[in-house]
Parts: sequence; C-alpha cells; structure tokens
Amino acid sequence: MKKENYQFEYTRVSSQDHLKSEDQELMRHAWNASSHAYAPYSNFLVGAAARLKSGIILTGSNQENASYPVGVCAERVLLGIIASQHPDIPIDTMAITYQTQNRKSNIPVSPCGMCRQALVEFENRVSMPIRLLLGGETGEVLIIDSTRLLLPLAFESSYLK
Ligand code: THU
Repeated sequence: MKKENYQFEYTRVSSQDHLKSEDQELMRHAWNASSHAYAPYSNFLVGAAARLKSGIILTGSNQENASYPVGVCAERVLLGIIASQHPDIPIDTMAITYQTQNRKSNIPVSPCGMCRQALVEFENRVSMPIRLLLGGETGEVLIIDSTRLLLPLAFESSYLK
C-alpha cells in the first residue's frame, strides 16, 4: 500500500488592481456578463468571460430553468458558445465572477464539479491549458494555471478506448 498526495499551486492576489490590465479587462467582461444571467431561482448571477488565443473575448452567464436541473452554469454556457463558434481556438484565460443579493460579492467562487469536467474536456480537445481568474466584484482574485489542477484523477476519454 502506498499513500499518495496531490497538491497544486495557485496565485492569490489581494485585489483586481494587482492584475495585469488585460486580466482586469477580462474580469470586467465577466462582471458585465453576470448582469445577463437568468437566475430567478437562486438569485446567484454568474458571469464568465474568455479570451481566446486569437484575442477574441466571449462571455456567458448562468441560465436557470423552472425545472431546476435544466439550468446551465455560466462556464458551460460559455464553453458551448466558444466550441460552436471557434472550435479550434484554444482559450487563453477564463474569468469567472458573480453577484448575489444575499451578500457582497467579495470572495472568489470556483467552478462546480460538472463545469470542471467540461473545462478539462475542452483543454484536452485543443491540447492547451485554460488559465482561470476567480474573483468577486471586489476582493481577492485566485489565478489558476490550468483547469485540470482543479480535477485530480479526472475521467478522461482515454478510459473509453
Ligand atoms: N453556477 C454557475 O453558473 N457556475 C458555477 O460554477 C457554480 C454555480 C450557477 C448555477 C446556478 O444557476 C447558480 O449558480 C446557483 O448554483
């Protein structure tokens, strides 16, 4: 028997002001996208913005449904847009933010498990890591160099072969 250990490194910055300007811009796009969320059930409005390697920025937001499981997270809405419109262009960075009536948007939230699986699939598909920026309207931002770091022992297509 052998115990194994999984660790990953990420960067925490104390505020968006300490990000490079293109990252600040992407956080602003994500914030603007959160206002297009349709989240009448949770009142948790998520916005995601991706800068593709080509420089194009695309955005998505969560879209809920009266039949709750039908709702889709912002990240997977955005991945669907990117994969449909620019299937071969890798994502350089994706920023994810949120707003809610319940409290201030000042701590980072990270993608749910289903979105992590979808993000890893996209990384594998184009063979490039997606860098993540996670932050609220204000407060700390986490920078993670690849979404696969968030999903150790991921289920991947090689298992199907
Ligand atoms: N949500 C996202 O859009 N992204 C995530 O990674 C986590 C959760 C959405 C789903 C639902 O509409 C609302 O946030 C509350 O869970």
